[in-house]
Amino acid sequence: MFSTVLEQGGISNLDSNRKPVIAVTMATSRQGTGVVNELSKTNKYQIRALTRNVKSSKAIELGKLKNVELVRGDLIDPESLNRAFDGVDIIFGNTTPTKGWKILRGSIVRSYEMEQGFNLINQVKFAYEKGDLNHFIFSSISKAKDPLRNEPAPGHFTSKWDIEDYIDKLDLKKITTVLRPVSYFENFENKIPGYTISKKLFPGIVGKNFKWQTIAVEDIGQWVRGVLSKPDKYKNQSINIAGEELTGLEMALTLQRLVSSEGLHTKYLMIPRIAIKLLENDIGVMADWIERTGYGADMNKLKNIQKELNIVPTSLKDWLKAKLENKKKIRNTWSRQWKSSQLDLQWDKY
Ligand SMILES: NC(=O)c1ccc[n+]([C@@H]2O[C@H](COP(=O)([O-])OP(=O)(O)OC[C@H]3O[C@@H](n4cnc5c(N)ncnc54)[C@H](OP(=O)(O)O)[C@@H]3O)[C@@H](O)[C@H]2O)c1
Repeated sequence: MFSTVLEQGGISNLDSNRKPVIAVTMATSRQGTGVVNELSKTNKYQIRALTRNVKSSKAIELGKLKNVELVRGDLIDPESLNRAFDGVDIIFGNTTPTKGWKILRGSIVRSYEMEQGFNLINQVKFAYEKGDLNHFIFSSISKAKDPLRNEPAPGHFTSKWDIEDYIDKLDLKKITTVLRPVSYFENFENKIPGYTISKKLFPGIVGKNFKWQTIAVEDIGQWVRGVLSKPDKYKNQSINIAGEELTGLEMALTLQRLVSSEGLHTKYLMIPRIAIKLLENDIGVMADWIERTGYGADMNKLKNIQKELNIVPTSLKDWLKAKLENKKKIRNTWSRQWKSSQLDLQWDKY
């Protein structure tokens, strides 16, 4: 076994040939998992994967990866962060606005994310002052293409930008790289009845002709690996990151081309804004904001940086292809075990 579990304190220093130690917060999240997977493959780092529950199935899967140790860490418990960051060289920090869903509130709670952000940055400062930490990567959210049309932005965006300001206030920018991803491809697999992706339906939150910047969540891992390869150049930098910039119609056409041999037609469907707002108001505000101001990733500039940092962005086409192939594999395995009527595979609902 390559992994170990460290729940309480006692995180020992490695020997003099040790690999740089990186703490990854929210390691079981979609972003965190992408970062841990990518860094594990490099074999260059010892990774402390932080989670509130080292015994969850997601955590156990991560703990099986090479160079990964599971460490208990809760962003609303500063003491747990203090222990988890003890002696680390690098920190990847992420926060979440998501709490349990409540009627009239939804699940997004700005103050919950702000509390995590303050705790995280305070503990980054503390680790820096102790002397080991030399690089902090904060995952925020893309700023606007048109900064003059920046208002009103959703609460779970302004929270991240306010955390960026706090990094500045604590004079940590000199050791910080801020990565600002746009919307994940993974959102197309939402669970809203009638609006999740299938071979016949491509759901989106913006109008069909709007050019929407998106990214595969696992590419954030590549970005982290990339900036860590040139730390001096990328400290004190903020980059809006994206993999694609396509209209809804272009995205649906990308899927249509993959399924056309089955005689299928894929249509783009914009999820009604009112339905989004009823379910999760802040996501509705986000969709208004995206359409009004646009995400601010500079696709041409990104191409040069990706080349420099050996990042190969996942295209929407490749992401869709992989999803279709994976579903086929799961269906073949499952159909040997269960009757097909028991399967819930949205992608095959046509
Ligand atoms: N969806 C998008 O398109 C998009 C795009 C850009 C940025 N973002 C942002 O990316 C961030 C992460 O999103 P995600 O979708 O990757 O996350 P996710 O998959 O929803 O995972 C959330 C994770 O947060 C952890 N968590 C919850 N409360 C915590 C706390 N108090 N302390 C420590 N960990 C806690 C949980 O891990 P444990 O239970 O294991 O502790 C869980 O794995 C969010 O801020 C989101 O706004 C999202």
